Amino acid sequence: MYEQVSHSHLDRILDQLKPEIRKRDLRHFYTRLGANFYAIHSLFKQLYGRRDDFDDNLLRLVEVLAVNYIQRDDQFKRLDVMRERNHNWFLSQEWVGMALYANAFAGDLEGLGKRLGYLQELGVNLLHVMPIVKCPPGASDGGYAVSDYRNVDPQVGTLDDLRALSASLRHRGMLLTLDVVVNHVSDQHEWARRARDGEKRFQDYFYVFPNREIPDMFEESMPEVFPETSPGNFTWDEAMQQWVMTVFNDYQWDLNWSNPAVFAEMLDVLLFWANQGADILRLDAPAFLWKKIGTTCQNEHEAHLILQLLKDCCQVTAPGVLFIAEAIVAPVEIIKYFGEDAVIAKECEIAYNATFMALLWDAVATKNTRLLEQGIRNLPDKLNRATWLNYVRCHDDIGLGFDDADVIRAGYEPRSHRSFLVDYFTGEWEDSLARGQPFGRDEKSGDSRISGSLASLVGLEAALEREDEEAIRECIDLILLLHGMIMSFGGIPLLYYGDEIGMLNDFSFMDDEAKAHDTRWIHRPVIDWDKAERRHKPGTPEQRLFEGIRKMIAVRKNTPAFADFNNRELIETGNPHLFVFLRTDPFAQGEPVLVVGNFDVAPQSLNLGDLHYRSYLEFERLRDLYTGEAPALFKDQLVIPPHRFYWLAGR
Ligand code: GLC
Repeated sequence: MYEQVSHSHLDRILDQLKPEIRKRDLRHFYTRLGANFYAIHSLFKQLYGRRDDFDDNLLRLVEVLAVNYIQRDDQFKRLDVMRERNHNWFLSQEWVGMALYANAFAGDLEGLGKRLGYLQELGVNLLHVMPIVKCPPGASDGGYAVSDYRNVDPQVGTLDDLRALSASLRHRGMLLTLDVVVNHVSDQHEWARRARDGEKRFQDYFYVFPNREIPDMFEESMPEVFPETSPGNFTWDEAMQQWVMTVFNDYQWDLNWSNPAVFAEMLDVLLFWANQGADILRLDAPAFLWKKIGTTCQNEHEAHLILQLLKDCCQVTAPGVLFIAEAIVAPVEIIKYFGEDAVIAKECEIAYNATFMALLWDAVATKNTRLLEQGIRNLPDKLNRATWLNYVRCHDDIGLGFDDADVIRAGYEPRSHRSFLVDYFTGEWEDSLARGQPFGRDEKSGDSRISGSLASLVGLEAALEREDEEAIRECIDLILLLHGMIMSFGGIPLLYYGDEIGMLNDFSFMDDEAKAHDTRWIHRPVIDWDKAERRHKPGTPEQRLFEGIRKMIAVRKNTPAFADFNNRELIETGNPHLFVFLRTDPFAQGEPVLVVGNFDVAPQSLNLGDLHYRSYLEFERLRDLYTGEAPALFKDQLVIPPHRFYWLAGR
């Protein structure tokens, strides 16, 4: 399958590069291209080899790599070399992230630069600035319907502002993550406009069809992403008189990655943002990159080949830059985004751990950890040099994408269990204080997802309204418990802005016609800085949350066992309310840590004898790294108060 590529092939390509490229100092570039060329050529051939213009396209690809290398700032090139030498740098426990919108958090990019001190106070050192590139006003899907890949939305600032932010982050030892929306563009993007004007070259950037024949075949097996607001996967374009594939909203046109010109364009876009100072690029919706009739058009093998090719290309021009896969798919599929059939990560180094996120929410609603434990037991091991992004909330809905077999093994009937969860989080369930909203209800399957801010979903909003001190305390404990889990599970915890001070649901989006139909806006609040100020006022919910999370972050950074080298062992305790796992220290620099979380509203206990046997912890020496104190004990039992967790060490 893989064709032999000789070095003379590469030499021929290099000879054809424009003279202005050839005369630059490209030593590092040539070395890296030489090292990766075999893989690049093979993958490119596999994807696009049947075309007559294969050689021209390959030349174009190498040109994109070279031009972006030349444009790459020296300081980033130095960083590239440092990270190549210390290639596991991002697996360290020292990284803690936060995702936020520049405008909602701080007005604009310049304002964000002035708020970095707040993030540092908390301990955050990896910033995911949600999409900032140009989108049409209104039909923007929160920044994911891009109309110009190379310019910043004037409402949040300019490219210069972004570069200034990136420099400021670097000085503070913080990382910058930016989105690249790879699956689709806005129907207002120049490519879409030119396609609409009849330019064949640009129509080939998309999937366009004169009639329903092929769209109907696709529809037979394609699910709907936004069944409520944008049913179907194709949209009729009046001007073009064609059907266009639009898997997400009807104004988001899916890019045709089976066209090598699209590959080169998007590679150029990725490297452009790498060159603006992004340390990490979040690839939006990569599961959708390849479309095939008769399939769900998700997780196709070719989508993985594309990601591998993008990674190999990035290794040549900007090897210090990491990719995050935002693939919200089944656990067995998620794991492949590190590299299908690979040993060491060779697609995206980081992936959203949507499985863990959804399982945590299941434990919140059921107050037991049966499904959580089952789901994590069946989560395949990651590849080496790959890590999770562990999160509780993000800008999107909570999807209940558990594996049905796991749900059954945990003792539930999948359909009724999912409907219980939706009822629970939307407050329909009798003793639930949750204030979520349904999202993306699918009339056909009866499925629904959930929107809502963390604080409102755990019941803090309702508890505050009732001025019920005990309920408030329980909700705060629950928020801290969830954070205690993502901080210690293995991977980079990604906080969501506002959760650190308990921001509640925000209904102001209802006044905006372009947003009113999309309940995800309920949890994309404008930060209330007066509320944030209360983080310094002892006893307030804001202070208890902020301080709790701040302390957790500080302890995490000092706990080598929390680095991510597949050094986690799930411990089955027989107590269905506890989630327990052991983190061993990968480099024997410190001690193992036993993480114990109680998801019940009642205290739970754990036999210390079992603990010793499983983790070799000496109970006379037990201490909780989080509080710095000895945990509660009763006779030979460890006592875990309701909604509390321990990070136990003791050797
Ligand atoms: C990703 C984004 C989501 C967006 C979708 C389409 O899932 O996180 O917000 O709606 O892609 O771009």
